[in-house]
Amino acid sequence: MLTAALITVVLLAVLASLPWWLPARVVALRVRVFERINGDEGIPVPGDLVPVERFEQVYAHPAAGGRSKGAALSDVFWYWLSPGPEMHQEHLEAGDAYDAVARLTRRMLAVRRTEAEELARRCAGRALRDVRGLVRLRDLMIPLWAEFSYELVFAEPCPREARDLIAGNAADVASSLKCTSLRHMGRRDRLNAYLLRNLHRVRLPLPEGLTPRQQAYYLHGAFFTTAVVQLSEAMAHLLLVLARHPAVQERARAGDDRYLDQVIAETMRLYPLFGIAHRITTGDIELDARTTIPAGSVLCFNYPAFHHAGCPDPGRFDPDRFAGPGAKDLNHIPFGVAANRPCPAWRLAPIAMRAVTREVLDRHVLDSSVTHTRSMPHRGPCLLTPRGAPHRPGRALAYLRVRDRWEGVWRSLVQLVLGTYMVWDARRLRLCERHFASDAPENTHAHPGSRHSS
Ligand code: HEM
Repeated sequence: MLTAALITVVLLAVLASLPWWLPARVVALRVRVFERINGDEGIPVPGDLVPVERFEQVYAHPAAGGRSKGAALSDVFWYWLSPGPEMHQEHLEAGDAYDAVARLTRRMLAVRRTEAEELARRCAGRALRDVRGLVRLRDLMIPLWAEFSYELVFAEPCPREARDLIAGNAADVASSLKCTSLRHMGRRDRLNAYLLRNLHRVRLPLPEGLTPRQQAYYLHGAFFTTAVVQLSEAMAHLLLVLARHPAVQERARAGDDRYLDQVIAETMRLYPLFGIAHRITTGDIELDARTTIPAGSVLCFNYPAFHHAGCPDPGRFDPDRFAGPGAKDLNHIPFGVAANRPCPAWRLAPIAMRAVTREVLDRHVLDSSVTHTRSMPHRGPCLLTPRGAPHRPGRALAYLRVRDRWEGVWRSLVQLVLGTYMVWDARRLRLCERHFASDAPENTHAHPGSRHSS
């Protein structure tokens, strides 16, 4: 009798303690499983071979230029970014097709500051109308940035049908990247079919050397996957930071844009959207007289490690780091490195994010008690109280804290199972490897006339 009671007590204690230890163990196991499936082809930077002091130098090296061909890791990225990953700007190898789409992306994003602010404010106004109570910030942001990107590309208000297709695609990509759900190709293909039907309405001429399908894949990848997912993730991080730091929120609301810019910079330092960006070396990189990184190596540039290095108390959120003259010495590359295919939205994204943040802060008080990690698989649970309404977040915060803990247990197991399956499936399909292995000579350097395979 006593033994049975003891066992019950122990079991209950183990059960009650699950949220405090299980998710971290499952994440560690997931990382090990991924490593087993992917192999250890990558050279971590910074790491034993390349110290943090040479991080930017190696990243900027002309031979650190390959994007897809020759890395098993690329099969996994191509899987998550399908359909048409071979036309996704981020993954295109250098060549005519890359030059043509990169030029067009730059032109699309070259919007005047006032126009970008006005567009962002208008989209925010629609997305925030009647919103109150508990939300998931990423879910709130996706339709907003779907409309924003649509107007950038088509220069006309986003029809509801298009907004839903874009939002469905972006949510699917983001969730599958975080392994909280499988990928749903139907949702993605429906958006692609819409783009294919509407190519003639794009506001700037599309590269003539590409087939219509390739043009649709390019738009899909750059503007309706990357732009929407990245802006939604970045804004969810920013708003969650404000929700978890009421004093910072108050100062940002009352202060000028300089302080808001510091908050944005510190958020991106602590929660960079890229965990790892990889490059395949197209030639040898000589580090010193005795050490050379050979051509064909896969370099894995670790953004969080770089942002933490040399920063005092790097895990603490402190926007004032970016106030003084010391700011220029911080390792901070949220949009990549200028010499090696940085983000083409490095100028536009902060302008639009600032405008949307002002809209949110003018309308709502934000509160949250959930954990905040770089991958943010919980999509940013948060309480939005309209300004001027009674503000008593105590009970909601207690509820969010408990729910977050228990959701973490279940989610970590889901991520383990779905993540393992998707990485295995990606390695089985070998989308990237098969694309470059096909006999078309233009596949060595993607060419405007090359046929797609997906
Ligand atoms: C806050 C939002 C954003 C952040 C933090 C961000 C960050 C980045 C980073 C770090 C890279 C370089 C990765 C590497 O070196 O491999 C990159 C590349 C890229 N980003 Fe962004 N991005 C954001 C928003 C956007 C938006 C709005 C677009 C819209 C089109 C965009 C399009 C791209 C493209 C096309 C590339 C590949 C560039 C190339 O290879 O030529 N990004 N982004």
